[in-house]
Amino acid sequence: MIRVSILGATGYAGAELARLLSMHKKKVQFMHLVSRSFAGKRLCEVYPGLSESLPVLEALDIDRIAADSDVAFTSLPHGASKEVIPALYAKGLKVIDLSGDFRYDDAAVYAKWYGEEHSAPALLQESVYGLPELHRSAIKAARLVGNPGCYTTCSILALAPLAKHKLIDVYTIIIDAKSGSTGAGREPSQPLHFCEVNESVKAYKVATHRHTSEIEQELSKLYGGEIMLSFTPHLLPVNRGILATSYANLAQKSSAKELVSLYKSFFAGEPFVKIYESGLPELKHVNGSNNIAIGLAVDERLNRVIAVSCIDNLIKGAGGQAIQNMNLMFGMDETEGLPKNAWYL
Ligand SMILES: NC(=O)c1ccc[n+]([C@@H]2O[C@H](COP(=O)([O-])OP(=O)(O)OC[C@H]3O[C@@H](n4cnc5c(N)ncnc54)[C@H](OP(=O)(O)O)[C@@H]3O)[C@@H](O)[C@H]2O)c1
Repeated sequence: MIRVSILGATGYAGAELARLLSMHKKKVQFMHLVSRSFAGKRLCEVYPGLSESLPVLEALDIDRIAADSDVAFTSLPHGASKEVIPALYAKGLKVIDLSGDFRYDDAAVYAKWYGEEHSAPALLQESVYGLPELHRSAIKAARLVGNPGCYTTCSILALAPLAKHKLIDVYTIIIDAKSGSTGAGREPSQPLHFCEVNESVKAYKVATHRHTSEIEQELSKLYGGEIMLSFTPHLLPVNRGILATSYANLAQKSSAKELVSLYKSFFAGEPFVKIYESGLPELKHVNGSNNIAIGLAVDERLNRVIAVSCIDNLIKGAGGQAIQNMNLMFGMDETEGLPKNAWYL
């Protein structure tokens, strides 16, 4: 039995993590669900769709969490995570952080994109980027995992085979990504009001979104040289799901059929990666599941590849991937407790 605690359990990602963990075939025991705003209430009072059996929300007490948990999930805003993780880590816990605080190899890159110095740069050397499809063996040995962002999971996996095999001109990568509004979290803000989002689509943080740096970090490692790319996020009037359309000029002539075959061999055996032989993925093909679906096309006139990828931002983009990492860190079946079927409707 793995004893788990969640910090930030009342956020969208934390609540989805709790929902998924409660279906983990009883190999998981909830210890502490931490909340600043709702301590003393049950999570089902905040999210009435969740089970009454989940523990009562508590204020943060690091000593209690460390004394009786095997793993802590920190589902907090960036900045808040790096304040609590050093203490949890020092007390011997395994930690899976859903924020951006421990996803970087280089503290200078964090400082540049997050606008503040990293307060625990030494721990960045300990943390492993939690994308199982790329870093499975390091995750198994890790005690601190920086769970990837939702846009980044969707974008990195869509381009990984092309970067690894040097099949594209890496100065031509453009990622046009669209997210449902749960991607922005539960904190109310004017641009996320129903009438601001509904019946509209808008680009935001163009050429400045933090996830750009995370995508560049991971694709550069695969490529074996520096990659810089354009990443443009958009907000969709839907609750869940990310669809990324990624473009790059091919370095040599390749057909869509050849690329599909390359992707199938790159991701062979991956339990949550679906490569389409034909057709393209849609949000409803993945929402509710821990899958990423990837479809490919080649524009022969321009010798350009177009990869379309989709994930559920709260599952493969957050709580589901965090559980996949936990399973690996504790030597369990990687797929345990994780949905492989999308809701579709
Ligand atoms: N939403 C997604 O699709 C998604 C995907 C991938 C990664 N992430 C990352 O996961 C983390 C959580 O995201 P979210 O969407 O769940 O955000 P959220 O809905 O805003 O939830 C964050 C929770 O953390 C707690 N919190 C807020 N400020 C805090 C602070 N200063 N100190 C301690 N606790 C604080 C709040 O709960 P209380 O007030 O009850 O304590 C809040 O409910 C973020 O780092 C986000 O970037 C989110």
